[in-house]
Amino acid sequence: MALKITIAEAGRYVGQEVTIGTWLYNKRSSGKIQFLQLRDGTGFIQGVMVKNEVSPEVWEAAKALTQESSLYVTGVVRKDERAPCGYELSVTNVEVIQIAENYPITPKEHGTEFLMDHRHLWIRSKRQHALLTIRHHIIQAIHDFFNKENFIKVDPPILTPTSAEGTTSLFHTKYFDEDAYLSQSGQLYMEAAAMAFGKVYSFGPTFRAEKSKTRRHLIEFWMVEPEMAFVDHEENLKIQEHFVTHIVQTVLKNCQRELEVLERDTTLLEKVEPPFPRITYDEAIRLLQDKGHHIKWGEDFGAPDETAIAEQFDKPVFITHYPTDIKAFYMKPDPERPEVVLCADLIAPEGYGEIIGGSQRIDDPALLEKRFEQHQLPREAYQWYLDLRRYGTVPHSGFGLGLERTVAWITGTKHVRETIPFPRLLNRLYP
Ligand code: 4AD
Ligand code: MG
Repeated sequence: MALKITIAEAGRYVGQEVTIGTWLYNKRSSGKIQFLQLRDGTGFIQGVMVKNEVSPEVWEAAKALTQESSLYVTGVVRKDERAPCGYELSVTNVEVIQIAENYPITPKEHGTEFLMDHRHLWIRSKRQHALLTIRHHIIQAIHDFFNKENFIKVDPPILTPTSAEGTTSLFHTKYFDEDAYLSQSGQLYMEAAAMAFGKVYSFGPTFRAEKSKTRRHLIEFWMVEPEMAFVDHEENLKIQEHFVTHIVQTVLKNCQRELEVLERDTTLLEKVEPPFPRITYDEAIRLLQDKGHHIKWGEDFGAPDETAIAEQFDKPVFITHYPTDIKAFYMKPDPERPEVVLCADLIAPEGYGEIIGGSQRIDDPALLEKRFEQHQLPREAYQWYLDLRRYGTVPHSGFGLGLERTVAWITGTKHVRETIPFPRLLNRLYP
């Protein structure tokens, strides 16, 4: 074996003989030359094997390779402008690790259910690899942003005794003899953390037992939840604009190759920079009514409504000041108009829907107590949350960004099921 490297590192070894641990992605042959399409997780490279330059054993070993067979390939790195990775390998040796059985995911078209059943293998394919690589870069961009802004990362619990986002989508489980729920949102705990650390964020899995089977809903999804003391509604929106811009611009800078694999038209993404347009809920209702949608003040938007609103803008748009009655119990009413709350949903362009929900929080203990009653929430279970308003209450705000919807938007992927490695969907817990 020569020096062991990865495909991503090939550029540093032009002219040298190296060994790479790989899987065979595809193969074609022209009698005297075999072209091996190889992947190792860090990239794809073509291995070129010339019959009279290798031993007959090596030639035969390569001929026996099936799709997804595993092998160490040794060869000399050559620069090649036409190759997607910029290099190719003049193969000198092949050491087979395993000849793979008949691989179920062949280059032909497969139906979605089939691919979802084989998700554990599907993630090896070029498109899925590009998608999940961009997901990784988005996760890194999120941490970088908050780190630079001096936020502290705090991890809220996943097993919780209460609801944060309404009781209808609670994921019930047992906690020994008690009832427990998988976290719908870490927000309430992040509010406690903000009172201890000022600016905090969490980033973890959240769960909604939603009976909705749409292209935007997962049962288990990842949410980023910043929470900030002494920050009001207006300041909250400013931070969101800068945050989302940072994510998009980072992907445009670092993931050009992946965006090309996905054939993503990046024209609109390039326009993402502060400020983002804003419309109030009232204006949005009028706009929809003018377009012939059947919606009345006080009703929540459906996916087609959100898409129609987003179509008016080429950047993400904030819809602000929703009716108090259709939003979460903790949102602060607008002091000038208590029938609406100081909140905003951020709607992505091109029909990708709501990617952020956020608000200023109620800081008055008496009002919060009233809300527990109105929402029929068990007062005792929220005593700790009320304490946050008893001991040095302050104006504070925060938001939650859904990772998978953000990945779907940036990568131009229709359904969120492809934006998470192993999606949990209404009818899917396998693999
Ligand atoms: O709007 P949501 O429900 O807000 C909250 O949970 C707040 N507690 C956040 C906060 O202020 N700390 O959810 C936030 C985001 C949505 O905008 C959406 O992007 C995503 O989470 N989301 C989902 N993503 C995939 N599948 C689902 N079922 C989702 N539900 C929400
Ligand atoms: Mg929401």
